[in-house]
Amino acid sequence: MSEQTNRSALVTGASRGIGAAIAERLAADGWDLTISARGREALEAKAAELRELGAGRVEVVPADMTDTDAVTALGAAHGEAFGRCDALVINAGMGSKGAVAEMPVKRFDRLYQVNVRAPYILLQSVLPTLRSTAAGHGAAKVIAVASITGVYPEPELSAYGATKAALISLCETFNLEESEDGVSATTIAPGYVATDMTDWLKDRIPKEEMITAAVVAVVAHSVTQLSRYAVLPNVVLTRPGTNLHRA
Ligand SMILES: NC(=O)c1ccc[n+]([C@@H]2O[C@H](COP(=O)([O-])OP(=O)(O)OC[C@H]3O[C@@H](n4cnc5c(N)ncnc54)[C@H](OP(=O)(O)O)[C@@H]3O)[C@@H](O)[C@H]2O)c1
Repeated sequence: MSEQTNRSALVTGASRGIGAAIAERLAADGWDLTISARGREALEAKAAELRELGAGRVEVVPADMTDTDAVTALGAAHGEAFGRCDALVINAGMGSKGAVAEMPVKRFDRLYQVNVRAPYILLQSVLPTLRSTAAGHGAAKVIAVASITGVYPEPELSAYGATKAALISLCETFNLEESEDGVSATTIAPGYVATDMTDWLKDRIPKEEMITAAVVAVVAHSVTQLSRYAVLPNVVLTRPGTNLHRA
């Protein structure tokens, strides 16, 4: 039996990894979903899985986060399909490693486009739907997947960390502007999560010792349970050990 059949979420980067895990957790509660990423085929396969898990309607809207028009259209498509947005999950993101001394500025620009600029556009595009969903005594949540590197610096992740710090700052300001009207944002700032993005690290940190995408999904799901009167600005999710301030 689904918990909330008529709630709906837009999840970016939902074809695999953390975004897929969040979509799966919401599907298990019967949510309606718009899922997005670049690759249509992987999204269609994921949509079929989500329906099996118990999702209501699932819309597939491919969009490249570097494409302004596509990101704007994605937000509009969700509003048109469902007429409400209880959770906007800003998860699509890219990583890149390199010391400040060596990082090509072009790569920095791309990180900024995907990890900060696209979330900004998406917030603007979905905001009218979030506001109308929260009207009265309702609540609408923005859940943005940042990174622990946006809170505590990590060598060779300066550009990535800077984009995630910017995302956290953006959501903090968003809360100042919107939270009294029931729309609030939570950033989740995890250390290393066992997904494709951390494949490069697996010889140093075994995947089974990383945070799982399912655990991040539990945190995201919890945020969707909060009323409009509870604002959770940022959740740092770290790995055990003697240094809790590292990825
Ligand atoms: N894994 C970690 O250790 C970790 C830790 C902290 C934070 N994060 C953050 O968590 C989020 C998800 O990461 P993940 O580990 O789940 O990564 P992942 O497994 O590589 O998945 C990334 C998802 O984003 C989509 N995507 C990538 N580039 C895109 C673009 N330009 N436009 C649209 N969609 C795009 C991918 O699909 P397509 O390739 O088909 O587009 C895929 O669905 C990211 O924001 C990441 O920075 C990850």
